[in-house]
Amino acid sequence: MEISVLPLSEAEKKPKFTDESQLGFGKIFTDRMLLVEWKIGQGWVDARIKKYEPFVLDPAALVFHYAQEIFEGLKAYKWADGTIALFRPEMNARRFNHSAERLCMPEVPEELFLEGIEKLVSVERDWIPTAEGTSLYIRPTMIAVEPLVGIKPSDHYYFYVILSPVGAYYSQGFKPVRIMVEDKYVRATPGGTGEAKTGGNYASSLKAGLEAKKKGFDQVLWLDGVHRRYIEEVGAMNMFFAYGDTIVTAPLEGTILHGVTRDSVLTLARSLNMKVEERKIDVNDLMNDIRSGKITEAFGSGTAAVVTPVGALCYANECLEVNGGGVGKITQTLYDTLTGIQTGKIADKFGWIRKVK
Ligand code: COI
Repeated sequence: MEISVLPLSEAEKKPKFTDESQLGFGKIFTDRMLLVEWKIGQGWVDARIKKYEPFVLDPAALVFHYAQEIFEGLKAYKWADGTIALFRPEMNARRFNHSAERLCMPEVPEELFLEGIEKLVSVERDWIPTAEGTSLYIRPTMIAVEPLVGIKPSDHYYFYVILSPVGAYYSQGFKPVRIMVEDKYVRATPGGTGEAKTGGNYASSLKAGLEAKKKGFDQVLWLDGVHRRYIEEVGAMNMFFAYGDTIVTAPLEGTILHGVTRDSVLTLARSLNMKVEERKIDVNDLMNDIRSGKITEAFGSGTAAVVTPVGALCYANECLEVNGGGVGKITQTLYDTLTGIQTGKIADKFGWIRKVK
């Protein structure tokens, strides 16, 4: 499908940031966006790269009422030699369509998803920051725009992609975060939408997040919705625990997001001769194993969060430090290796990098 690039005058361009250390996460957006529409009877039409600007949408648009919405997150990097690299975008394309299927939305052809992102990143290349720990965050999104108050899948969708130059997801940077195990609210149940990347999952997690923040935590760690016992995910991250040189994470059984970074961490760990286990983790065992020192490190993984060390975990009014609250060796190695591959400093022997022409 032809993707047209609409003209943008110099006067319409925004001033660029000057200090890359002050980017924060997801607050600044580039000059242009990709927009493609899907209409019933026509399929995907009118792919264009246009000025980044507000949408004019009908107040009855289905997305506003029934949350028929999905999104993705991936990053582009500018290497020292000028190469522009995307990290495993094919996995995001597949997961996007997996989410689309769950939300009864049309699938975006993988080629359109990838070419659209590549072309947009290419025309916006001057916006990619290069300071340590920065990147261009890419947010593909699909929303239901048919004006209708009845409940049904929409007849009209926008698939769009916006770009944001970002620094670290957590304001403190690569420093250990404090996580509270959530025992009051749940995020997902079997048969629900936990595995889909859909806005509703995040909206329903806000209350737990706010209550945790008031108590001084960075985020909550969800337990399974049935037994309230097994570790699931953090929302912005999948969770890992190191038992010496074995790293353990929860299995993908329908309620947890199939993290691209999660998969990359597992692959990297195997290649570094660590043992990996995907298995159910009982929160009571987890606390015992931290207390006894069997668990030597804890960290989260995510596109936004990359690899983030977890310094303290609290459950049922008990707070335990992991690794003395510091950054562990495995966590540091995985972070360095992953970001090394992403930024072109370490050779990519896994075929994860897709270069933008
Ligand atoms: C990501 O890691 O890209 C996420 O989607 C997490 C969060 C920013 C929603």
